[in-house]
Order: sequence, then C-alpha cells, then structure tokens
Amino acid sequence: MTRKGIILAGGTGTRLWPLTRAVSKQLLPLYDKPMVYYPLSVLMLAGIREILLISTPHDLTLFRNLFGDGKSMGISISYAEQPKPEGLAQAYHIGAKFIGNSPSCLILGDNFFYGSELGKLLASANSREQGATIFAYQVVDPSSYGVLTFDAQNRISSIEEKPVKPKSNWANCGLYFYDGRAVEFAKALKPSARGELEITDLSRCYMKDHSLHGERFGRGSAWLDTGTAEGLLQAAQFVQTVQTRTGLLIGSPEEVAFRKGWIDAKQLHSLADAIGKNSYAESLRQISAGA
Ligand code: DAU
Repeated sequence: MTRKGIILAGGTGTRLWPLTRAVSKQLLPLYDKPMVYYPLSVLMLAGIREILLISTPHDLTLFRNLFGDGKSMGISISYAEQPKPEGLAQAYHIGAKFIGNSPSCLILGDNFFYGSELGKLLASANSREQGATIFAYQVVDPSSYGVLTFDAQNRISSIEEKPVKPKSNWANCGLYFYDGRAVEFAKALKPSARGELEITDLSRCYMKDHSLHGERFGRGSAWLDTGTAEGLLQAAQFVQTVQTRTGLLIGSPEEVAFRKGWIDAKQLHSLADAIGKNSYAESLRQISAGA
C-alpha cells in the first residue's frame, strides 16, 4: 500500500507571539519561502504524493490559498481542522479516515531538515513496510524535545517527552514513519499529564512491539529549531547562506515535483510564471531549462 503523508501545522504559536498572533507559525517566512514548504518538500522527497494538511480552523483557509489541491505539483493535498491543539498523536484521530490501514508519515509543519543523507534515510524509512521509523538528532540541550536512548545493538531503548534530566543528547525529530497500525494504536492512547495525546506514546507502542527503528542523523545534516525568534532567524540565515553559495534551492516542492518526474519542464515553467518575477521564480525557470 502506498504511504500517505500528514503535515501537522496547527498549534497556538504562543511562544512566538506577537509574530504568530494573527498568522500561523508554519506560514512565517524561512528566508524566501513559507516554513511549511520545507516539511512538504521532505514528504515529497520521500516519494509521498497523497498528503493531508491539518491546521486550526482559522488558518486552514490560508494553507488552501497557498497550495490548493496540490495538482499543479503532481500531488494531492487535502485539509482537515484541529479545533484545539490536543497533541501531535491527535493527527491520527483527525486523519483516521484519510490514513485507514495505509502506512503513513507524519511531519511537523515547523520542522526543518537538510543534508546529503536525507534522501537515503527517507527512502529506507519509506521502504520499511512493517513497524515504525523515527529520527534522532544530537543537540546540546534536548530537554525541550522527546529524548531517545539507544542500546548496544543500536535499537531505541527509551523515549521520554521533555525530560528534566535527559538520558542522552539525542532529540527525537518531528518526522515519524508508521505502518498501517498507527490509527489503531493512536485510538488507544490516553492523554498525558499535560492533557495531550503524545506522539512519544504512539512511538512507544511500536517500541513495545519490538518494531521501532531509530535513525540517527550524522554531522552532515541539519535539523534546526524554528520555535524561537533566534532559531527562526538562524534557520533563515542557514537557507540564505547555502542557497546563495550554491545557487541551489532548499525546500522547494516545485523543484522536488519536477525532479521526481511528477511534473514536466513546461509545467514547472508555468508554476514559475505564476509566482512572477523574483529570484525564487527565476531559480525554478533555470531548473526547468535544465540548468
Ligand atoms: O520538534 C520535535 C518535537 O516536537 C519532538 O521532539 C517532541 O517529542 C514532540 O512532542 C514535539 O515537541 P514540541 O514541544 O515541539 O511540540 P509543540 O507542542 O511545540 O508542537 C510542535 C508543532 O506541532 C508546533 O508547530 C505546533 C504543532 N501542533 C502541536 C500540537 C500539540 C499542532 O499542530 N497540534 C497540536 O495539537
């Protein structure tokens, strides 16, 4: 069965107020694109073409205005409301009908990934039909994330949500590949002490089942934080630095659609024309011309 994707792009964004008082965090600019372009590109890089975007009732229209039904990029995007932010695993309640028994990939709409190993890791997670794959990235202070530990055989031995005393420096990234049982597991979850359906609890179901795989990103990869004004600026500067130096785009769903063969050069050119006259559109035109 083909894997389906969910982008979770709701939440209150209060940590970034007043920036996000009137607009969804995931629509804020990361240099030259809205933040949500980056996780969308990651799902597409993994080969996922059927995507559900979940956001607040207030913001959903804005995402619809941005992407429409996704057809122009050779994918299908549908939309669903999360009235209140009651936890990441709630995505599997809201998306139950969309996912059904299919394998899926959930990505958080505010997560930024970059690196040469990304494509390979995504492909291998996507090809794993049984069980789940989650990802870890080494950070100095993991206490504001899910934290993973690994045993001598490289298997995940513990997952803890925002521990006061983290047992390792491995933060659990906001990217989760689950097999067809995710909806069933999510339905059996109980809210945590902070009243949320925790994604770490969903991953723990797979750990108990001995079918949870963990991939650690190495030094050549970046998983950046967009949760604070500083993090947001640093991520934007990272994109600007690498794009300006190389002339290659980071996080362009139009480019991924073209490279995957889901749209042709003419279609990519029309997408660029619809964006108009700016450097992003110019990069897409160059790609469509085979540059
Ligand atoms: O970014 C990775 C981390 O994401 C993981 O390491 C943690 O295990 C996981 O719980 C999560 O932690 P955060 O503290 O970053 O979660 P936060 O509540 O900030 O939500 C992450 C994004 O998801 C944020 O953009 C808002 C959105 N969200 C959040 C909740 C709780 C929703 O759309 N709906 C929700 O119900």
